Amino acid sequence: MMHHPLIGTPQDRVDGRAKVTGTARYVADFETGAEVLHAHVLNSAIAIGRIRRIDTTRALAVPGVVEVFTHENRPRTAWFSSSYKDDVGPPGKPLRPLYDSSISYSGEPVALVVAESYETARYAANLVEVEYEAKPHETDLLKQLPNSYVPKKRRSGINPPPRPKGSAASALESAPVKHVARYLIAAEHHNPMEMHATTVIREADGKLLIHDKIQGVYASKQYVCSVFGLSEDKVRVVSPFIGGAFGSGLRPHYQLFLAVMAAMALERSVKLVLTRDQQFTIAHRPETWNEVALGAKPDGTLTAIRHKAIGSTSRYEDHQEAVVNWTNLLYSAPDVQLEYELVQLDIETPTDMRAPGAPLGAFAAESAMDELAEKLGVDPLALRLHNDTQTDEVMNKYHTSKELRAACQLGAERFGWRHRPFAPRSMRQGRELIGWGLAFGAWEAQMQKHAARVMLDAEGHCTVGVATADLGTGTYTILAQIAAEALGLSMNKVTVLLGDSALPQAPVSGGSWTAASAGSAVHDACARLKAELLLAAQTQRGSPLVDAKLEEVMFDRERIVLMRDPMRAVSLQAAFAAGGRPRIVADGQAGPDQLTQLRYSSHTHSAVFVEARVDEELGQVRVTRAVSAVAAGRILNPKTARSQVVGGVVWGIGMALHEEAMADHNLGRWMNHNIAEYHIPAHADIHEIDVIFAEEKDMLTSPLGVKGLGEIGIVGTAAAVANAVWHATGRRVRELPMTIDKVL
Ligand code: MOS
Repeated sequence: MMHHPLIGTPQDRVDGRAKVTGTARYVADFETGAEVLHAHVLNSAIAIGRIRRIDTTRALAVPGVVEVFTHENRPRTAWFSSSYKDDVGPPGKPLRPLYDSSISYSGEPVALVVAESYETARYAANLVEVEYEAKPHETDLLKQLPNSYVPKKRRSGINPPPRPKGSAASALESAPVKHVARYLIAAEHHNPMEMHATTVIREADGKLLIHDKIQGVYASKQYVCSVFGLSEDKVRVVSPFIGGAFGSGLRPHYQLFLAVMAAMALERSVKLVLTRDQQFTIAHRPETWNEVALGAKPDGTLTAIRHKAIGSTSRYEDHQEAVVNWTNLLYSAPDVQLEYELVQLDIETPTDMRAPGAPLGAFAAESAMDELAEKLGVDPLALRLHNDTQTDEVMNKYHTSKELRAACQLGAERFGWRHRPFAPRSMRQGRELIGWGLAFGAWEAQMQKHAARVMLDAEGHCTVGVATADLGTGTYTILAQIAAEALGLSMNKVTVLLGDSALPQAPVSGGSWTAASAGSAVHDACARLKAELLLAAQTQRGSPLVDAKLEEVMFDRERIVLMRDPMRAVSLQAAFAAGGRPRIVADGQAGPDQLTQLRYSSHTHSAVFVEARVDEELGQVRVTRAVSAVAAGRILNPKTARSQVVGGVVWGIGMALHEEAMADHNLGRWMNHNIAEYHIPAHADIHEIDVIFAEEKDMLTSPLGVKGLGEIGIVGTAAAVANAVWHATGRRVRELPMTIDKVL
């Protein structure tokens, strides 16, 4: 009697076919008939000040233009409860588009043109005349560093730095070996394939069916209900597919507000799709400055850690990230001082971008560890392992599990780290210098409250529903695996429904928590469904399972089988016939366990090894080899999991070498707001990437033993590239991206 496991096996994406054949519908694919109006946003040309005069006459005169909304004629139905805050929103006041004449950043919407066609709306937007009264702006983080401050209110979900331990200052003073340096990471913009967009379908009864680019449909629904004062039954948000989001879709953005506002005012369906350049007006990773000081004994034992970071935010919200805590999470030291501050600039509020904060802090700290290793004359991997923590020294808790050392060993072996010559500039091939670098990384393993519903019908077909989203991460697939394995069905008997606010509630999909949380909720629903099925099977006359307990049976190949005597079994079909119901529905849930959280902290860890080749004459850097070794609890699907880590490593390479949002501080705006000038890695930039998962048993983090791995792949990668560039060239680059001018 063999049970066929699905969890832990590589499975193709269940939504893969729909995606590659174009049948998967994204926001802009909904409602393409003539009845839908098209809207286009006009964005502010100044960074801060007010609109003195706005004239829409010429735009309104264009045939096909239905309305032009500005702060002067926007409907009064729209309101903002002063307490409204989205799930992940920072303290402050969220942007209120077209609220009044004031402007807070370059790119803020100043008008919305609604027309019968997209082309008309876009053309007419050019005819809106705006006269601004500009005030002096400040968009330069480095100039504003002296004005940094500790945020008064903390952002929920983000742990501020802990209180200092001992005295890092005096420990540093007396440290026999020390390293102090500053590290800077450029602002970066999210560039998912799918642009932010909203299609609002106004139904005959006035209800709104909204398709919104969002990482969780409930976030959009709650926003619309709160901001427009609509009751819950008036709004449904359906977004089954997301063309990548990476944090840019965690918060509702202005296109949602504007599309709903127009649809309600005009009593029509409205579609609003942002352009690629407008994508640069809604979300970005904050530019972040770091200073790291490390003190050590001659044997490499750390005596002091000081890590301070200053991140940029807007004038209206205190966006916060966890940047500095990781340093002490990874490395043990008696005297520790961690600080995190903000600087307000006249820019849009930054937003979470894949592993918000962690790759910024890791770039600084993991570069600094390498620089310390150089001073100590020890191997940088040996230095890290020597100072590796056994407990979470930031929160003073035990780790639920931490197989970083095992991951590290596997990664080092695969990469061939032991063959690394100590001195920089030791390896060369033709014109290229070759260097090897590594870095550690960590990311939180979190559980969030999720509900799930599982339905099984008499034909053995199962439908799973959770309102969470699949951002391209593989959520559809892993939930199908979990349900199919639990109920003893084949994968093709399971349909997963996601991204619909009519489904059981889930928060936004982010923070790498979806697999553990939504997965555990589905697992829980399946357990309840199994209990009902067993009851039904036991009502069968002369049931062979009459005295069986749930833990004594397994569900395999559409049968309920007594494990100690596999001849005693009841088919699902027979159970249904006996139960007399056409379908069985079960609700499940999952969430954080308070008691576990009191004693334990839970993280995923990684060790990433990188080979960089640097053209000595051109300064061009190629990352020709990367091994990312990850400890992330139980791996549900090695295939989709590998893709997540590969994606993270690719992005880390982009962060290291390419990605940079450049501001023109004179104009107070982003200059390279397109993917011709904002560089992301292309296929030619990416070479071998190897992913290794270390075995890690952890039944404390989540009922499924899953930790989640959407973000860990990016965390240490940029630091590893910088360390490899140093090893190749002897040149230490402390600013990202490492463009040619910095490497030469
Ligand atoms: Mo992720 S930055 O939490 O979408």
